[in-house]
Amino acid sequence: MRRFPEDFVWGAATSAYQIEGAWDADGKGPSVWDAFAHTPGRIANGHTGDVACDHYTRFREDVALMADLGLKAYRFSISWPRVQPTGTGAANEAGLRFYSDLVDALLEAGITPWVTLHHWDLPLALQEEHGGWLSPRMADAFADYARICFDALGDRVRHWITLNEPWVTAVIGYGEGTFAPGLASADGPYRAGHEMLRAHGAAAEVYRREFQADQGGVIGMANNCDWREPASGAPADRAAAQRALEFYLGWFADPLYHGDYPASMRERLGGRLPTFSDEDRARLRGSADFFGLNHYTTHLVAHADGGGPVYDGANVGWAEDQDVAVSVDPDWPTTAMGWPVVPDGCRQLLGWIDDRYGRPPVVLTENGCAYDAEVVDGAVEDARRIDYHAGYLAACHDAIADGADLRGYFLWSLLDNFEWASGYDKRFGLHHVDFATGTRTPKASARWYRDVIARGGLTD
Ligand code: NOJ
Repeated sequence: MRRFPEDFVWGAATSAYQIEGAWDADGKGPSVWDAFAHTPGRIANGHTGDVACDHYTRFREDVALMADLGLKAYRFSISWPRVQPTGTGAANEAGLRFYSDLVDALLEAGITPWVTLHHWDLPLALQEEHGGWLSPRMADAFADYARICFDALGDRVRHWITLNEPWVTAVIGYGEGTFAPGLASADGPYRAGHEMLRAHGAAAEVYRREFQADQGGVIGMANNCDWREPASGAPADRAAAQRALEFYLGWFADPLYHGDYPASMRERLGGRLPTFSDEDRARLRGSADFFGLNHYTTHLVAHADGGGPVYDGANVGWAEDQDVAVSVDPDWPTTAMGWPVVPDGCRQLLGWIDDRYGRPPVVLTENGCAYDAEVVDGAVEDARRIDYHAGYLAACHDAIADGADLRGYFLWSLLDNFEWASGYDKRFGLHHVDFATGTRTPKASARWYRDVIARGGLTD
């Protein structure tokens, strides 16, 4: 038996746009993802999040599913334009009420809410009027929005995540342009990343100054990073893998722990990388009470002057900025996203975090896999999902044995949902969702996870 610490947080995660639907209900304003999904050609099969899992009306049913799993914690996000329809100004009380009712339902079921303030669905007005995350005004806007949320929910919510995966918004939303807001530019990612970091700093400062002492909660960020394994033992490849991690996790975590960007980014990007003011630096350093990590997969990295080929689907950013080529080992199994399943990469990444950031408390705020599996006679047999999570949880257990201070694990995702540009065809859920009827069906993996939680670990 691989037993986890007694107070280990067993959770599952979702986000607003991916599950709620009700995209224009009760005064909600449009988000950049509403606009993006409504633009023909942007999302596979023309899917949108207009209805999604209809969680907005079915949330009590979903809390009951969580209770059946025995979840200790549930991570969800607040839709900013549900709370502030244009991103600034007075709160929309109906929007806040939805989240307040959800929090109450969770607490009644004995489930601790972990709330993400922003999981990509930026109010469209902020994009159209100010340029979204390219604007230096965003830090103040985000801090005002965060204050509304802390004020309305902080009496019951003790776990806050400011931003989800700013790397993805920066690179895919403002660099490649295949996620909302759909802007393509070589410097956009570094500028957008900078404003997101400043926004995190401003919101964390509001929490620390105005709420934390009374409410007693914690605040952090959820950063994504897949492991980068050197393609060979050659020093150049090892240095390239290290550099790739610095351009990935270091980009967003170094400012929180060290107060500035990694030196490798500054050296390679020069003036393309914005500079923090002294005030920004002071706000950012130490602004996370825990290290939120979303982790899914591993790739191989080799040194390549001027950048080399990048395996399709690997999150890399600009290979030419990093002088890397990215590939996979053909023997690795892959998920329906094409992402290699390499549990040991998770253990290694947790070790890298310990070394670079001084063994912070870490929470795996996401880990999961997409596989196709249909309902047959009322059941969904998804053995590969069970294998995936058993492998990654064993790697987490090994990392704890290595010395990592890993506090919790949020499985992505509670439900099959809207997988961004891939639409509804990529299914990450413990529960199958029939998107025509809204019917939820627990998969075999849901029963398995319930047993893991009940036992507090994995059987051998
Ligand atoms: C990361 C994101 O936070 C989440 O929204 C997404 O669905 C999963 N990864 C899977 O791609």
